[in-house]
Amino acid sequence: MESSLEIGFLRVSEKAAIAAARTMGYGKRKYSDQVAVESMREELNRLKMRGSIVIGEGERDKAPMLYVGEPLGRGWTEGEIYPEIDIAVDPLEGTNLCATGSANAIAVLAASEKGGLLNAPDIYMEKLVVGPTAGDHVGLDKSVAENLGQMAEAFKRDVNEMTIIVLDRERHHDLIAQIREAGARIKLISDGDLSAGISAAIRGTGVHGLMGIGGAPEGVLTAAAMRCLSGRMQGRLKPLEKWQEDRLKQMGFKDANKVYETAELASGDDIIFSATGVTDGDLLRGVRFFGGGIRTSSLFMSLKTNAIRFVDTIYREEGSKLAVSFS
Ligand code: FBP
Repeated sequence: MESSLEIGFLRVSEKAAIAAARTMGYGKRKYSDQVAVESMREELNRLKMRGSIVIGEGERDKAPMLYVGEPLGRGWTEGEIYPEIDIAVDPLEGTNLCATGSANAIAVLAASEKGGLLNAPDIYMEKLVVGPTAGDHVGLDKSVAENLGQMAEAFKRDVNEMTIIVLDRERHHDLIAQIREAGARIKLISDGDLSAGISAAIRGTGVHGLMGIGGAPEGVLTAAAMRCLSGRMQGRLKPLEKWQEDRLKQMGFKDANKVYETAELASGDDIIFSATGVTDGDLLRGVRFFGGGIRTSSLFMSLKTNAIRFVDTIYREEGSKLAVSFS
């Protein structure tokens, strides 16, 4: 991917985060999502590509959508030969978190050469995410206790020194009980299993894995991040309602129990991942507005160049003579 296109994707998540952050604490999650979606669409349409959404929002929460199949970028109208790019988006992960001013809301996207990200509907996915240390030792087909034992061995510690993130949902009642029975510690989160999954692959966050059922788009985005971070994400699509089963069949998914590996969820060789903090979080700072400018904090990764960047950007207001500070 050309570097101008790569950097364009960074701007897309930054601008979506800024748009969402302006609505932080308003208590209007759909509205926060809508402004992030509109900003993302506008910025993606500026890029020199023939982009298509392969997994996005819309079907699961009926939000204003960047829908699966939506064409984006200048290549569709300008008649130039621009590259075909597949895009996975979550314009605002943690709509509730943003609406309540809580930690860990982010704006996220991943992009790849055509065919490099799983094309699936916005349904649920069962997930297991670990970083490089335990990557080779776990699997969705193993029991929870077995996985935790293997993870602890890989980390050379006791199971009771492991911390697993789980979404606090009724459907995770048994999973939580099994993790506790095995002796591991649990960090229950109200929302945001994508940023939580990324934390599991980054040393020093105090998190060793993520388990449970969350959104499929977040799953594909997590897998794209894992490709860049050498972590592992396994996912099994989980249609929880009849229409989701029908939609899966309609899109050609035959094996309901298939476990997708990281490189099946995000198979591309040229993957870009960009996440920008909306509210302050474990990995990224939220958007800061101040007289004369706006500051964003992003995780921006490129698989092809093997680059992992923590990017701090200041957008100065026009005519601003703002003095730049470190903090
Ligand atoms: P939104 O960004 O759509 O609010 O999703 C937040 C989230 O918590 C995701 O991180 C997670 O994958 C999904 O929702 C879980 O879905 P549900 O809230 O329906 O259990």
